[in-house]
Amino acid sequence: MKFGTKTIHTGQPSEPETGALVAPIFQTSTYEQEAPGHDKGFSYSRTNNPTRQRLEGVLAALEGVEHAAAFASGLAAENAVLQAYLRPGDEVIIPGDVYGGTYRILNKVFQPIGVVPRQIDTADLAAVEAALTPRTRLVWLESPTNPRLLINDIAAVAKVAHAQKALVVVDNTFATPCFQQPFELGADIVIHSVTKYLAGHSDTIQGAALAKDPAVFEPIKFLQNATGAVPSPFDCWLTLRGLKTLELRMQRHEQNAIAIAIALEGHPLVRRVYFPGLASHPGHDIARRQMTGFGGMVSFELNGTIEEVVSFVSSRTYFALGESLGGVKALVCHPATMTHASIPAEARAELGLSDTLIRLSPGCENSADLVEDLLQGLSELERARGTKKPVGATAR
Ligand SMILES: Cc1ncc(COP(=O)(O)O)c(C=O)c1O
Repeated sequence: MKFGTKTIHTGQPSEPETGALVAPIFQTSTYEQEAPGHDKGFSYSRTNNPTRQRLEGVLAALEGVEHAAAFASGLAAENAVLQAYLRPGDEVIIPGDVYGGTYRILNKVFQPIGVVPRQIDTADLAAVEAALTPRTRLVWLESPTNPRLLINDIAAVAKVAHAQKALVVVDNTFATPCFQQPFELGADIVIHSVTKYLAGHSDTIQGAALAKDPAVFEPIKFLQNATGAVPSPFDCWLTLRGLKTLELRMQRHEQNAIAIAIALEGHPLVRRVYFPGLASHPGHDIARRQMTGFGGMVSFELNGTIEEVVSFVSSRTYFALGESLGGVKALVCHPATMTHASIPAEARAELGLSDTLIRLSPGCENSADLVEDLLQGLSELERARGTKKPVGATAR
């Protein structure tokens, strides 16, 4: 069965009792038992719920494995994986370019209890090999990374990590299983901010963690119930609805991203465009090999001042200024003051995360409107520069 068909058919039969084409939302906290301990597979909705179970089945099928656990947010999924596998003294390798919340949970929650995060350029295989030690428990990859859309060679990293008996976790939020299948490349665990492309409509916060090996999955599944950060049945239903158009949406997001990347590259007010589909992107060849699409995100560094960045991101017609990404409605974000503000300024500078970086999440709008909106914003900056008095000029 092809991917697009799976999103609609796998694990989603019509509801057996009534024939309803779309299964109802099982909005219940508990289940009547025939006798103590004799239930119909459901005892309490933190432990399991039919709507959540349906979603977990679809997510697992899309990532090509048997096991998925849905969480109340992407960070709750990350927390379960980190809590399941990290003990004091353990080391975890993370990318230099990584989602700010991942940086924060490792540095502010796990480091104080003795875990050692090693933040390196995971796109550099030699650097990964050098950072691996017998204490390395996890190698955490994000590909493409947030916010610069750098590419990690998942298969190559998995090979060196497995040689040291470390598990490889891939945050597949940006690529989605539509464009990247990390388990086929050697990942042991995949996590998602389901909030983004999987749900796809900017109307729910959710996460997921998946594993190939039941033994690797078991402690994560245990923590889903034991720590209780589960999504509501309604939120699971929203994601089931969103997933049905995942392939269509990803195709459109990618088309829009390509049009934008081409329009921005070479513009005098753009210092650099980050999009793995551009031949100028350092990870382009690996992306071609390990992805079936380049994703829907584009980032760029403005060749200008912070004031100009603020003016640009605050005044677009179609790109709403906001955190998050992956919805049908376009978003623009300034990582240094928004999604990645939890990384201190000096650390951001060291990691090469420029304060003039702008991250775009084109939605499913028409690409011509999105491109026009961005080019118009750049023209406005050019015009404003032209009308500014040169520094030191005196008023007449
Ligand atoms: C790549 C990535 N991973 C994880 C997360 C965390 O997900 P959530 O916001 O659903 O907790 C985000 C959120 O922006 C993200 O961009």
